[in-house]
Amino acid sequence: MESKEIRKKFLDFFEKKGHKIVPSSSLLPTDPSVLFTTAGMQQFKEYYLGKESPYGSNVASCQKCFRTSDIEEVGDIEHLTFLEMLGNFSFGGYFKKETIELAWEFLVGPSLKLDPERFWITIFKGEGDIPKDEESYRIWKECLGIDQEKIYEFDREDNFWGPTGKEGPCGPTCEIYYDLTGKPCSKGKNCIPSCDCGRFIELWNLVFNEYYQNREKKLSPLKQKGVDTGMGLERLAMVMQNKDSVFEIDLFQPIIKEIEKQSLKSYCDNRRAFRIIADHIRGAVFLASEGIAPSNLEQGYVLRRILRRAIRFGKLLGLTNNFLIPLAQKVIAIYQDVYPEIKTKETDILIVFQKEEEKFEKTLEKGLKEFDKLLKSKIKNQKSKIIEGKEAFDLYQNYGFPLELTEELAKEKGLEVDKQGFAKNLKKHQEISRAGAEKKFGGHGIKKLQTTNYKLQITKLHTATHLLHQALREVLGEHIKQMGSDITPQRLRFDFSHPTKVTPEELKKVEDLVNQKIKEDLKVQREEMPYEKAIKSGALAFFKQKYPKIVSVYSINNWSKEICAGPHVQRTGELGSFKIIKEESSGAGVRRIRAVLK
Ligand code: ALA
Repeated sequence: MESKEIRKKFLDFFEKKGHKIVPSSSLLPTDPSVLFTTAGMQQFKEYYLGKESPYGSNVASCQKCFRTSDIEEVGDIEHLTFLEMLGNFSFGGYFKKETIELAWEFLVGPSLKLDPERFWITIFKGEGDIPKDEESYRIWKECLGIDQEKIYEFDREDNFWGPTGKEGPCGPTCEIYYDLTGKPCSKGKNCIPSCDCGRFIELWNLVFNEYYQNREKKLSPLKQKGVDTGMGLERLAMVMQNKDSVFEIDLFQPIIKEIEKQSLKSYCDNRRAFRIIADHIRGAVFLASEGIAPSNLEQGYVLRRILRRAIRFGKLLGLTNNFLIPLAQKVIAIYQDVYPEIKTKETDILIVFQKEEEKFEKTLEKGLKEFDKLLKSKIKNQKSKIIEGKEAFDLYQNYGFPLELTEELAKEKGLEVDKQGFAKNLKKHQEISRAGAEKKFGGHGIKKLQTTNYKLQITKLHTATHLLHQALREVLGEHIKQMGSDITPQRLRFDFSHPTKVTPEELKKVEDLVNQKIKEDLKVQREEMPYEKAIKSGALAFFKQKYPKIVSVYSINNWSKEICAGPHVQRTGELGSFKIIKEESSGAGVRRIRAVLK
């Protein structure tokens, strides 16, 4: 069964069972304490805590996820950085019995018709004050007739999930494993789901959110119990398509074949390198489609790290320059029907990849030579088996090697990297360049803005864009429509439909009106509602974009109202003062304004 069909079967099954199907949220979560969306439940987090869900209490989704914790594992049969997670969720609707029965019906019933004998189950055995999950055990054994020899109990480390971020809902889990071989390994009777022989694959995680964990890691019972489940689409496809690894399924094959075509090497002889390149290129396409660009900070650093790691493994296979581009095009072709945003952003993604590849190409060979020299001198002089912090930092600074790349190269040769030493060198360097920048720009031009400043600046400019949009409509007329928007920490850029040049007088009026609204210190409010209702209420929408059924609407004192995912500041007074710096044409009938906040 093709992955496309599996995705559809899952969503159809749960829709028939009374679930509202909710589209995947962005890979960039609203919760600032986590870098990426790593699980389907994240977009629903507040509904577990009692906030009313606009979708009702039972929902299902296929969510784009990205997990940095698994980067090192990629290369085996089942780990991935980017994955699609199929999940059903309930916020006070149903609980253990229904969850387990629904999962079982989907797997072994008419939808997938998998062999019930192949499944093994693990449940939470209890730890400290948290009791054993007797109820789930009984349901599996008594209601579904699972042989008790196939139900195992594990502790908190294995069978308890959450929270994501610093705090949130969490609880005991039931995990459904699939027996790939049907035969125990040499451990015989001890070959159970925790065995690492490759016989078992964890397929579906059923989480019963009964607790809230606060920032001090203390648990308290949730008022309303919730369900959060997650099953990797790629793993399920591997089982359904009878493959030996997730990389052999239909979603990966065109990428693997393209690597074979370009490198003239076979996947079978070079599995690990092929898998790493295929995984990383796929993950990178999805990250870049969210507007992330390679950098040395947060999400940008992760993108840089996986792109550069893919490039290095590409080198091992003898892949030539710009090999990322045709691979990225394969990824886009595979997913464009399900996630149209990656097709819309194709040019941007390819440019980002090409630039990063060119940048790294320039120094990669030299850096690898430098690394070899370092290695030889250590072996020759029988020096310690440690790559010093300064040495790793030089590779980072001079040759663009992410720390993890140096660590990986070192590990392959039985060496370790002094990570703390690296961090110290990095800090020292940042302090020096900050001092230099302050000197150069008279104290204002700190080049590497701290991330929080960076985010805050973008948030402010985002709110300013809404004010500008409405001001343009008031001054120039209701025909003004947003045609594009781009925000960097330094400025906003706004494209809109208007037939003629905007006169200096008109620009002045627009600028004054925005500044007046800033002075009034108006409250910025966010509401969720169905798309149709939002449009009826007069909220502006960006016509090029496809919106989910439920949208968030930001209004500024009933003066400006737009469908928008945010984030925004809380009051307009936070913006300071607004200045238009340029007005120009941006194609037929489209004008472009650049503006800054001071
Ligand atoms: N949130 C759970 C997981 O990601 C289902 O495994």
